[in-house]
Amino acid sequence: MTAPYHTPVLLQETLSYLLSTTSGVYVDATLGGGGHAEAILSRLDSAGSLVGLDADKDAIEFSSKRLQAFGKRAVARQENFRNITSVLSELGVSKVAGVLFDLGVSSFQLDEPSRGFSYRSDDRLDMRMDRRQRRSAIEVVNEYEEAALANVFWKYGEERRSRRIAKAIVQNRIRANIQTTDQLEKIVRNVVGGRFALKSLSRVFQALRIEVNNELGNLISALQESINLLEAGGRVVVISYHSLEDRIVKETFNAQAASRIPSGSKFIADTEIRPTLKILTKKPMLAHQQEVEQNPRARSAKLRAAQKV
Ligand SMILES: C[S@@+](CC[C@H](N)C(=O)[O-])C[C@H]1O[C@@H](n2cnc3c(N)ncnc32)[C@H](O)[C@@H]1O
Repeated sequence: MTAPYHTPVLLQETLSYLLSTTSGVYVDATLGGGGHAEAILSRLDSAGSLVGLDADKDAIEFSSKRLQAFGKRAVARQENFRNITSVLSELGVSKVAGVLFDLGVSSFQLDEPSRGFSYRSDDRLDMRMDRRQRRSAIEVVNEYEEAALANVFWKYGEERRSRRIAKAIVQNRIRANIQTTDQLEKIVRNVVGGRFALKSLSRVFQALRIEVNNELGNLISALQESINLLEAGGRVVVISYHSLEDRIVKETFNAQAASRIPSGSKFIADTEIRPTLKILTKKPMLAHQQEVEQNPRARSAKLRAAQKV
């Protein structure tokens, strides 16, 4: 039996937070294998539709086939979600009932050696979600200055040995370009030996992936644009898999749900403002143990949802 493309995480929770009407336009900004999208579409009536975006051509090819049964009510586009407003505008859509972000990479991307996302297999050190993009992890690892590399590992991987790993990379690449996941793995293992190696490898690979795909910058702007696109009562749901993403979601929601801007002075009154969002999840939703047992990827998932006021 072949492995499924991707098992959707927190599926029931996503549906109950996202769906405010059965007849609106929904956006799945991270279509992946189309698991969430298919479940959303099957709960909509004939006036409801879904636009799915993914930066990855493989994801679009796979999910387009999966969603064929929904005919014109399902549209899939190979696009970065940072272009959400312009893609919708091309489709003649100015307001939507809901937007879903299920961030990060799919199981297919992680498990497919040729994508170079994982140190568990040996292939080209690629890590691009969109392979039309010029910069892959090879360019980052071979062209960034030592301090910039250390900064990537520290900022996006919270890797304590960021400076030593960056130094080792620079020393190695003088001899030969670093082209494969295996080469990078050996360098990291030489710096961080023994039982700490696996955690450092995960952090270094995660940090490179975030840098190659500008994941945090894209999330900040797409989240803001999505909130602008929501009709009154429309909802945004975000599933994140590491603390940096979750912090961006939490802070964006909090800023949009605020009803006052503190003056910072005890003599001057705060400024009252009209909130644009109502937060639906005071604390993030986590997967139940049973889901985590069946799908280990769900372990780190955090779902936050908010509704346009
Ligand atoms: C966790 S998977 C989504 C899985 C999907 N919910 C499902 O049910 O199969 C994340 C997907 O988001 C895509 N992605 C990540 N960042 C993106 C971005 N900035 N723009 C568009 N797609 C992105 C990845 O290529 C990947 O296919």
